[in-house]
Amino acid sequence: MSMQVHVITIFPALIESFLSFGIPRIAREKGKMVVEAVDLRSFTGDVHRTVDDRPFGGGPGMVMLAPPVFDAVESIENQHGSAHRILLTPTGRPLNQQILKELVTEDRLILLCGRYEGIDERVRTGLEWDEISIGDYVLSGGEVPAMVILDGLARLLPEVLGHPESVQQESFEQGLLDAPHYTRPRSFRGMDVPDVLLSGNHAAVERWRREQALRLTQEKRADLLADHPPKSDSTTRTESR
Ligand SMILES: C[S@@+](CC[C@H](N)C(=O)[O-])C[C@H]1O[C@@H](n2cnc3c(N)ncnc32)[C@H](O)[C@@H]1O
Repeated sequence: MSMQVHVITIFPALIESFLSFGIPRIAREKGKMVVEAVDLRSFTGDVHRTVDDRPFGGGPGMVMLAPPVFDAVESIENQHGSAHRILLTPTGRPLNQQILKELVTEDRLILLCGRYEGIDERVRTGLEWDEISIGDYVLSGGEVPAMVILDGLARLLPEVLGHPESVQQESFEQGLLDAPHYTRPRSFRGMDVPDVLLSGNHAAVERWRREQALRLTQEKRADLLADHPPKSDSTTRTESR
């Protein structure tokens, strides 16, 4: 089974180039994530392939036209079947790891990338969307947010990561931030790797990592502890694997 994703954009080459590197590339090569970058301009009827126009009521900037978006969505779904539709917008629900874990269970996604001042409101009201924001800031387009989602999903798909257990150990998985990581050299510019990591004592290493994760979460993101009280020691990461 593979996940099918259709990204509607005026810059399909941006999405294509993103998929040529790292984990998204592996997901694609293994056939786990099939991504189609759909050029919105293919759904225009004029010689200039226009996808935007001035806003009614005046004001700065341009607004993305509704008809090409409706046509693109309908074309994709008529061809492939219905999809879970995602509208990328700063006014959407804030993306987090839990939402990615929900989205990765979908067979087919459509990601709509806005541009300009945004998209004609009738796209939002006339079609059903899961409206998603990647944070409280405004970017110039929805392509980077789409890449954020593609990247986050690619690494959750089965058989994509070389070490699937790394997903379970990462930040946000157990309501905690990840513990620090070290590699060679053992000593670097007066900074030494903590002795416990060199001890070969796996139980002690696990205990240290959990303590560090708790400490870091307390220091940096105490809100996570309030939302997801950490599980007791009987369900630490070693045992939950
Ligand atoms: C310049 S933004 C439009 C912002 C809009 N006028 C507003 O203030 O909400 C253009 C497009 O970039 C995308 N975008 C920008 N910031 C985003 C964010 N934080 N999350 C998701 N999409 C975003 C959306 O697709 C949006 O339609």
